[in-house]
Amino acid sequence: MGFIDEIKAKAKADKKTIVLPESMDKRTFDAAEKILKEGIANIVIIGTPEEIEKNGAGYDLTGAILVDPYHDPNRQKYIDKFVELRAKKGVTPEQAEEQMVKDYMYYACLMCKCGDADGVVSGACHSTGNTIRPALQLLKTKPGIHSVSGFFLMEVPDCDMGENGRFIFADCAVNVDFDSEKLAEIATLSAESFRSFVGAEPKVAMLSYSTMGSAKHDDVTKVADAVKLVKEQHPEIQIDGELQLDAALVPSVAELKAPGSTVAGHANTLVFPSLEAGNIGYKLVQRLAKANAYGPVLQGLAMPVNDLSRGCYADDIVGVVAMTAVQAQQAE
Ligand code: ACO
Repeated sequence: MGFIDEIKAKAKADKKTIVLPESMDKRTFDAAEKILKEGIANIVIIGTPEEIEKNGAGYDLTGAILVDPYHDPNRQKYIDKFVELRAKKGVTPEQAEEQMVKDYMYYACLMCKCGDADGVVSGACHSTGNTIRPALQLLKTKPGIHSVSGFFLMEVPDCDMGENGRFIFADCAVNVDFDSEKLAEIATLSAESFRSFVGAEPKVAMLSYSTMGSAKHDDVTKVADAVKLVKEQHPEIQIDGELQLDAALVPSVAELKAPGSTVAGHANTLVFPSLEAGNIGYKLVQRLAKANAYGPVLQGLAMPVNDLSRGCYADDIVGVVAMTAVQAQQAE
């Protein structure tokens, strides 16, 4: 069974309610029909009757909950919650109302916050920043977590590295500036994500252009310091670094460059030292190795919200909804 089929099976076992706020895009309806038919999740679509008529015509949406943001009986509850959550920012009821109907991502996050839904998937026709920002502002991080980050679950065909070709790559999507503390938190969250999505023991490589002090630079020290922090705070996590990519993945290189490391040569969770490296790295593997790249999946948020690529197909939306539903199960 492929990765996404395993995730769909998990999602079906305890169905969650996922909001799709992009009623302005036909792929939303195509995906909703497939999700409902397969029984992966309960689906809420936010949109006016005109939007739903225009883009959803011809799709079988039996069972979908259609929420008109202008006439929803829960609308006032969401306005009040928005004002309460953004009180320190001085948001007025008028501003909250305007924002919620102008940008359905806010509406979707408020539905989650008020307990009317379990997660959100969006981004087929919105940038990553615009998809993530409402979630950061309204849902916030899990207790004890400072930064949300984004990983890809990579499934590389015919590959005996990682966990039979399965890896987590992070952070590929969110944080522009990393210090050691943030890198350490990304590593810890990625280890948890690997365990829950792949079901195997994470081996976390903290990547760099240096292996175990072979180069000297502040960038290298930052990674090495992050490794120390994770080892102190989470001695149960198998982590090592700083490691070059070949030392992380190839046992013969690991023996030369990082002898004695239990992670080097066997890593399955790759933590990149910058957003540039992570974002370019996952796309290289996706395009050159023809790997499946599922994500970016956000980790560290109090409730699951996930982004889509603007080039996505309806089937990609179905996969991300299944992953979001599984995160919602775990959040319980
Ligand atoms: N974790 C938790 N909270 C955060 C984070 C984070 N990583 N980043 C920002 N926040 C919070 C802030 O504290 C702030 O909260 P507040 O409003 O309650 O004070 C709120 O989010 C907004 O923060 P800003 O600093 O104003 O953030 P901004 O709106 O500029 O952007 C964002 C945040 C969207 C995540 C930004 O960092 C970003 O655009 N990152 C890059 C996204 C991207 O383009 N990725 C590459 C493409 S993805 C791909 O290829 C698949």
